[in-house]
Formats: sequence, C-alpha cells, structure tokens
Amino acid sequence: MSTRFHCLEDFRTEARSRLPRLMFDFIDGAAGSEYAACKNIETLDRIRLLPRVLVNVAERSLKKTFLGKEWGLPFGIAPMGMCDLAWAGTDKALAKAAVQHNIPLCHSIAASSSLEVTLDRARVNAWFQLYVGASLERAWEHVKRAQDAGYEVLILTVDVPQVAQRIRDLRNGFKVPFRTGPRQFLDFAQHPRWVLETLMAGVPRTANFDDTNPAALYGTASNGFIREETRGKVDWTFLQQLRDRWTGKLIVKGVLAPQDASRIQEAGADAIYVSNHGGRQLDSAPPAVTQLPLIREAVGTDYPLLFDSGIRNGESVVKALALGADFVMLGRPFLFASGAYGERGVMRLVELLTDEVSLTLAQLGCKSVEELERNMIIEN
Ligand SMILES: Cc1cc2nc3c(=O)[nH]c(=O)nc-3n(C[C@H](O)[C@H](O)[C@H](O)COP(=O)(O)O)c2cc1C
Repeated sequence: MSTRFHCLEDFRTEARSRLPRLMFDFIDGAAGSEYAACKNIETLDRIRLLPRVLVNVAERSLKKTFLGKEWGLPFGIAPMGMCDLAWAGTDKALAKAAVQHNIPLCHSIAASSSLEVTLDRARVNAWFQLYVGASLERAWEHVKRAQDAGYEVLILTVDVPQVAQRIRDLRNGFKVPFRTGPRQFLDFAQHPRWVLETLMAGVPRTANFDDTNPAALYGTASNGFIREETRGKVDWTFLQQLRDRWTGKLIVKGVLAPQDASRIQEAGADAIYVSNHGGRQLDSAPPAVTQLPLIREAVGTDYPLLFDSGIRNGESVVKALALGADFVMLGRPFLFASGAYGERGVMRLVELLTDEVSLTLAQLGCKSVEELERNMIIEN
C-alpha cells in the first residue's frame, strides 16, 4: 500500500495535477462563492474534543450497527453522479472498497454504471439514490427498477430542486450540452493520461438513462439524463407515495431544518440524511454540522440519522457521531482518492480514515464508536 498519501489534502493535490481542470473543478467546486463548502470543513475543524485518560483502550472496535445491519466501519460513500469522470474505473473501485471494508456505497441515479451493475458488484452494501426529475413517471420507473433489481435501501435526495450555479463549472464550460471547444481541448491535451484511460474505458455516461449520444457526457436526448432540468417536483405527496410503494428502507437526503426532519420522520422514513450537499446547492446554507444536534433533538435519541458535508478526516467522523449522527458519509474525498491513485487510492483512503477514527477513539477513552456521546465535545 502506498505511503505517499497521509491525509486527504495529499490526495486532493495529486488529483488536481492529474485531472483536467474541467473535471477537478466539477468535483471540488460548490455553489456560488463556495462559502458554504468552506464553512462545512472549517466548522468541523473548529469543534474541540475532550481527551480522557486511564481507560484501557488497547482494543477498539469501529463496527457500527445501522438500519438493521452491522457495518465494518461507521462511515461510507455518499451518492455521487458520474464518478468515472474522476478516473476511469472509479465506480468499480468504490464497489470493491465497499465490499472489502463492509461499508455502504450509495449508487447515484446519475452514476456512470447502471444500478444493476453496481448491485452486482457491491451486493447488500449498495444503496440506491433517487432524484425526481421533470418526469414523475420516469422516477417511478427507476424506483421499480431498483426494487426489481433487489435494492434494500433507497435514498430520496430532496435538496436539489434545481442544480445550483457552480461558478467554476460555468467558467470552465462544464455545462449541458457538453462540448469540447478550444479551451477544453487545451485542458485535455495537458492531461493525456486521464484522456487516454478515459477513452480506453469508454466515455463516461449516465448509465441508468438511455443516453445514446456518445459525444455527450450528460444525455441531452429526451430520454437521457438532463442535468439542468427541474428536480423541483418532489414534494410531501411524492414522499408519502414513495413510502407506500417502497417496501425496503427509505432515507431522505438533504435535510437541514428540524421542522422538515420531524415531518419526514412522521411520514414514515426510516432515516434522515442531514446534509447541505457539500455546499453545492445553497451557498448561504448553514454548515450541515451545526444543524445536526438540532435535528437530533427534533427526532429524538433513537431515530436513525446519517450525516455528510465537509468530512475530511477521522476526527471529523468522530465529531459527527458524537453530535448525534449514527452514520457518516463522505463525498469528494473518495473522488480525490480515485483521481490521485485509482483503486489503490480509494483503498488507501479507507485505511487512512479507519486509522484516524481508531486513534481518535483511543484519545477519547472509548473502546467502541458506539460509546461516542455529545459530552465528549467541548461546547464554546
Ligand atoms: C461530484 C459530485 C457529485 C454528486 N452527485 C450527487 C448525486 O448524484 N446525488 C446526491 O444525492 N448527491 C450528490 N452529491 C453530493 C454528495 O452526495 C454529498 O452530499 C456531498 O459530496 C458531501 O459533501 P463532501 O463532498 O464535503 O463530503 C455529489 C457530490 C459531488 C462532489
């Protein structure tokens, strides 16, 4: 295993040099001035943990029970569309890591692999994530397809009524329809290895849609995936209908308001996924971590909560768990790891986070992640 990567920033730096700017910025970027994305990380960094001593912590367990299953680690892989843009084979590498480490992998409806292929690769570790686009009919088709394929967990993402303005993407020309003008051509020419490997693997497409236009990274045909189309039709009625139809576990992702959390809980969702989409949607949104304890308070101690947005190391995983999350997800870090070093990078990232969580537990006098509590956080 490579020892070149000692923290997330090592992966990010390497990915920045290996990826065309268009792709790196698509992953790294966020909405507007990117204030929300920065604040997610900064707020987590500023939270202080209180070390405890004289507890025998020679043996520590990172196993975590969530939604009726025991997981190998308390963190997993957030849903992300078009992961193979980070590096050819990323979806496959993520599935491999999910199985090897027994962690959940959220398969985005906008993924580069089909939902059936991901399920085949990651089996019970794969969860299906749904966006509701302009056609409700098509959303129901995807729900049925996921159910028929055998998915046991569905995540309904509700914080993208419309894709936000991401300034870097606009400047770089990352938009629908995707075109290679002189600017993008120069960018690709400066990153021949990414281009070669991507072309050899086949230009990434949104495989859950009938995207038959090979020149487009995002489908523009009427039956393809249209990134810019409205996703604003998803509402309380849809949630209730989905709850009635989906027989597996149902998670609602992208929740920040305690009032919404209570209503989603009442609607019968099995879990809530607290997130501000990594700052990619509302630049003025609060850091997701500041909403976490408020939502925990609103839904009570036993209701399952997931968390993401801004997690960049094991200490932050521990902080989120102590603040009320039952499980923690990471987005961009997995794409940086793959962009930097492919499958080995993804494996190294999981190893790094595992070590960091374990070391943090030891410092806090905990033998298990199940022992983490709010009083381990220093309030100031
Ligand atoms: C490149 C990229 C694509 C994403 N695509 C999706 C998606 O298809 N569905 C979704 O629910 N969230 C998507 N997200 C948001 C992530 O699931 C997650 O909420 C976010 O990345 C967490 O913040 P972090 O990157 O700081 O860990 C995407 C994020 C990134 C970076």
